[in-house]
Amino acid sequence: MEKIAALVLATAVVIAWIAPAARGEVRSFQWKVEYIYWAPDCVETVVIGINGQYPGPTIRATAGDTIRVELENGMSTEGLAIHWHGIRQIGTPFYDGVPFASQCPINPGETFTYEFVVDRPGTYFYHGHYGLQRSAGLYGSLIVDPVPSDAVPFTYDGELSIVLNDWWHRSIYSQETGLSQLGSAFRFVGEPQSLLIEGRGRYNCSLIPAAPSSPPLSGDVMSCNSSRPQCAMHALAVRPGLTYRLRIASVASLSSLNFLLEGHNMTLVEADGHYVTPVEISNLDIYSGETYSVLVTANQDPSRSYWAAVNVRGRRPATPTGLAILSYGDGSSSSAPPSTPAPQSPAWDDFAYSVAQARRVVSRPGFQIPLPERANVRLMLLSTQNRIDGKIKWAINNVSYVPRATPVIAAFQFNLTTAYDLAASPPRDFSRGYKIRNAPPNPSAIQGSGVYTFRHNDVVDVVLQNSNTLVPNNSEIHPWHLHGHDFWVLGYGSGIYRSHRHGSTLNFVNPPMRNTVAVFPYGWTYLRFRADNPGVWAFHCHIESHFHMGMGVMFAEGVDRLPRIPAQALGCGYTKALFTAP
Ligand code: C2O
Ligand code: CU
Repeated sequence: MEKIAALVLATAVVIAWIAPAARGEVRSFQWKVEYIYWAPDCVETVVIGINGQYPGPTIRATAGDTIRVELENGMSTEGLAIHWHGIRQIGTPFYDGVPFASQCPINPGETFTYEFVVDRPGTYFYHGHYGLQRSAGLYGSLIVDPVPSDAVPFTYDGELSIVLNDWWHRSIYSQETGLSQLGSAFRFVGEPQSLLIEGRGRYNCSLIPAAPSSPPLSGDVMSCNSSRPQCAMHALAVRPGLTYRLRIASVASLSSLNFLLEGHNMTLVEADGHYVTPVEISNLDIYSGETYSVLVTANQDPSRSYWAAVNVRGRRPATPTGLAILSYGDGSSSSAPPSTPAPQSPAWDDFAYSVAQARRVVSRPGFQIPLPERANVRLMLLSTQNRIDGKIKWAINNVSYVPRATPVIAAFQFNLTTAYDLAASPPRDFSRGYKIRNAPPNPSAIQGSGVYTFRHNDVVDVVLQNSNTLVPNNSEIHPWHLHGHDFWVLGYGSGIYRSHRHGSTLNFVNPPMRNTVAVFPYGWTYLRFRADNPGVWAFHCHIESHFHMGMGVMFAEGVDRLPRIPAQALGCGYTKALFTAP
């Protein structure tokens, strides 16, 4: 009894320390989500908008504030859930926005109220987490400022913020259908048509057959018009001599990206809401799910403008450079597009460059959250591409994730033990002796909803182990994102991870803390986190099609101390039975 009391007290102290929280203001929003016509890259298509706008509105708050979003599903064709990427949802795991993990989807016509504390300053974003809704444009920025008394280890004169994305003209319905088909009927989403900066890009209209403009277009005839205001290039306006904090987030569906500013170096200072030791860079690799802040000084000739550019990395590019304008002052000549060619990124397949840049990101002295000395749980998560019942899937330890109709968090709270695949929980490690460069096709892989369970405060080490795809001599980048936590990134390496060979290469001195980390082709990434946030948390590849094809797992932790799930998050699957009709 005493022990329990002490534990409870310790927990309360820890929570109070992590979240000085809930002392701030309540910031309320009313959002209606619906499909709208929009032309992000000058080609008109349907995108998911919020209150008639794409990208969604920016949420700006101060650490400790409560965000309250009344979210109405105005789409009549599908469910909805929004995830607040990078916000840990301490004490509110049911507002994490993952359908069938943390809540039931919001039905058409229904309103769901998210209410959570943003406990820590940093650069974050939000996005749809139902089906491929993120790819249809459902996302926006979420920026949390420090309380005024909080030290910020660098200074700047102004702030700018951009979200990067890749964009397809094919609807997400068509994309999803292609991904779900058998064998030869499988159609991959393919490379994107455009790269967008802050929701704007520019497709080459001469590639689209001229569409009749009069009489007005009917149905889905694609029309491209480069003078549409919706695709006017985004401008980053700076004043000569001043230094800016530029916040950059990637919500890309598929592409690894490289961002650069013509003629300007950048100093990397923040990654995923954590200050990092400053690094000078001339271009920035950014993977889907990551955020960064860089400092940029407007120290070039102010009589002209410069390109801000984004290129595809890690896959053979088939998409033109995405562009925005870095413009000096408010003079009109300096806000016209530059006449110089778009700047080039490193070669798309220079993976050594990417690994080297990733290794330069380390925590900042004075802002480190102490790393627990050792882990008491270690997971090896081997990802493979498989054929299961004739369909191409991704699997983790031979289980390809499919959501079941009952939110996993409710399965634990209400002891609905048949609601997920106990038999597949947890999936077993079979990496010993596995040939990651020449892998057998794994006929034993299954589809399921494997759940890994941790005790409260377990310290968990995870080795993310990459391997080849079904295409010979091919292995891909996978940016893994953990909900509900930040983790320490202890190292990256190539080949199969072996502790006697690689253990001594791990960084225990200044590992960065992040919520998203890349696993490189044929490589491994080693991370550590503390299971100190009771809830059920998705851990998955942030590539939209990969997660949809099963590349993810669920972590259930401290389930004996889950907070009570509010009724609005329930009502689907086995949780229907919790409500009896009057
Ligand atoms: Cu931003 Cu589960 O993802
Ligand atoms: Cu992936």
